[in-house]
Amino acid sequence: MANSSKINTPKHVGIIMDGNGRWAIKNSLKISEGHKKGVSIVKDIVEESVKQDLSSLTIYAFSTENWKRPKAEVTAIKKLVIDAINDQVPELKEQRVRLKFFGHTYDFGRKVIDKIDYAEQETHIKKSKLDLNVALGYGGKQDIVDITKKIASSVSAKQIKIEDINEKVIHNASSVPVEDIDLLIRTGGDKRISNFLLYQIAYAEIMFVDKYWPDFNRKDFLKCIDNFKKINRRFGKRK
Ligand code: FPP
Repeated sequence: MANSSKINTPKHVGIIMDGNGRWAIKNSLKISEGHKKGVSIVKDIVEESVKQDLSSLTIYAFSTENWKRPKAEVTAIKKLVIDAINDQVPELKEQRVRLKFFGHTYDFGRKVIDKIDYAEQETHIKKSKLDLNVALGYGGKQDIVDITKKIASSVSAKQIKIEDINEKVIHNASSVPVEDIDLLIRTGGDKRISNFLLYQIAYAEIMFVDKYWPDFNRKDFLKCIDNFKKINRRFGKRK
């Protein structure tokens, strides 16, 4: 949630890391090489987020729609997630970065689930410097379906009354462990939200960057943060 005393500094940045495939094709590489390069950019942006004193960074690693991709690509992404956790967890711990995964992660199979559990346990810290939230097997629409089922079953079990449903109840019913996004960045040149955090991006400032994710760098990231600082965020108020 944006803090009014620091209204111009983004505390929570979300990123749709698009363009790995097109970057790979442009460089005559396999698609999986594009994703691999993409992971190395995540490492840089996490380091920069710590430096910039963000409290959360939420990235879209795999959407519910990405299951429709070729099996070999999905397998390569699963392996990348495992490799990234093995490589990055020690450095993340050093930086006091707390990792959390959200989405239907159980669809990724035992190996990935166990690795995610390990990463979350290893990086668990009460007062983190940065929360790195990874959306994996996530869809904003799916999340709304899950929330609706959860609240509907609470209503039918008489644990909550319909008139008591409010934004807090919806937030608490969501399995997505993130607050509202301040700044949302999408790389890759397309100007759309796809199926990212639909509920949590109300009032987010949205920036579309005309570069493939593997070409995105710290300077580009700082430019987005700088542009954000110049925005007068009114949240519907007159001021
Ligand atoms: C979008 O590019 C990227 C993805 C769907 C996958 C990104 C996944 C990673 C970088 C792995 C992240 C894992 C961790 C643990 C950080 P695209 O393939 O849709 O690009 P295109 O639009 O050019 O085809």
